[in-house]
Amino acid sequence: MTNSENVLNEKLKKIESEALAKFQACQTSKDLYDSKVYFLGKSGVFTEIMKEMSTLPKEQKPLFGKAVNEVKQALEVAYSQVEVALKRAEAESRMDDEKIDLTLPGFDEVTGHQHPVTLVIHEIFSIMERLGYAVRQGPLIEKDYYNFEALNIPADHPARDMQDTFFIDKTHVLRTHTSPIQIHSLEGERPPLRIIGTGAVFRCDSDISHLPHFHQIEGMCVDQKVSMADLKGTISFFVREFFGTGLKTRFRPSFFPFTEPSAEVDCTCPICKGKGCSLCKQSGWIEIGGCGLINPKVFEHANVKYPEWQGFAFGFGIERMAIIKYGIDDIRLFPENDLRFLSQF
Ligand code: PHE
Repeated sequence: MTNSENVLNEKLKKIESEALAKFQACQTSKDLYDSKVYFLGKSGVFTEIMKEMSTLPKEQKPLFGKAVNEVKQALEVAYSQVEVALKRAEAESRMDDEKIDLTLPGFDEVTGHQHPVTLVIHEIFSIMERLGYAVRQGPLIEKDYYNFEALNIPADHPARDMQDTFFIDKTHVLRTHTSPIQIHSLEGERPPLRIIGTGAVFRCDSDISHLPHFHQIEGMCVDQKVSMADLKGTISFFVREFFGTGLKTRFRPSFFPFTEPSAEVDCTCPICKGKGCSLCKQSGWIEIGGCGLINPKVFEHANVKYPEWQGFAFGFGIERMAIIKYGIDDIRLFPENDLRFLSQF
């Protein structure tokens, strides 16, 4: 054996025992893997020693190569054994950490509730759909034209004082009622029409029976012969279906620039049953909205021929209807979203 062969063999043995000791000492599979890369990897210790083989005389190279390969194989085997042991230990400790106590009580399922306003809207839709009404929508921010002008409320008309308006800019407002939906429908569809629209409306107003942000439902029927009797019949049917038969309704003559003649619809106060209380301002009645025959001026704005086409419209406050239906005594409970209130519906 030559001197250089001797040196290399010694080196190989040293590496082998070092690697074995290192593998055995590893505490984690990550450490183990890193050690494997250090010894057996592409630019690891073994690659280095293979390079040194070129210093050996030609006839000794195969023998030494064989020895290197044997050591390498032995190390691979040792590596696999340690790896299996470490992985098993790691899996066991993970399972200990993630142990689930199956005897613990479960979590309660909390089911959501539909808001009473949503409940009322869905119910109104289902009643009106039976009468052939189709659902329509309109924007919350309206052009002054749709909220006022086209509904026969010109800029200098005193009726504008009826609704304290939130102005966005000179020509845009937060809609103060759902009646602009009438105009969108008249402009975009051909009569005969039966539509029902709903959504939020906004007014500078707030007390026990008024909210600055509330919801309305708008109904409109346009056909060849439409009378006040059709209007009363439709609303009476609707109110009876919605509230049940125990409730009285009355129509009071009123004024709206977009209907002629106009009326207001009242229902018996559900809190005092008509005796008088703070909610109904001692009158025994709660007003739910307005109605009337569509003013020919409105048809004129929308280019619908009158009297060939005639119609009626109504607009009701949804929170008011919910108050009556569920006997709620303060309208300000609706936007608060207190779960104790909402979960009762
Ligand atoms: N838009 C009216 C209001 O908000 C209600 C109404 C609608 C009246 C349709 C007549 C016809 O008070």
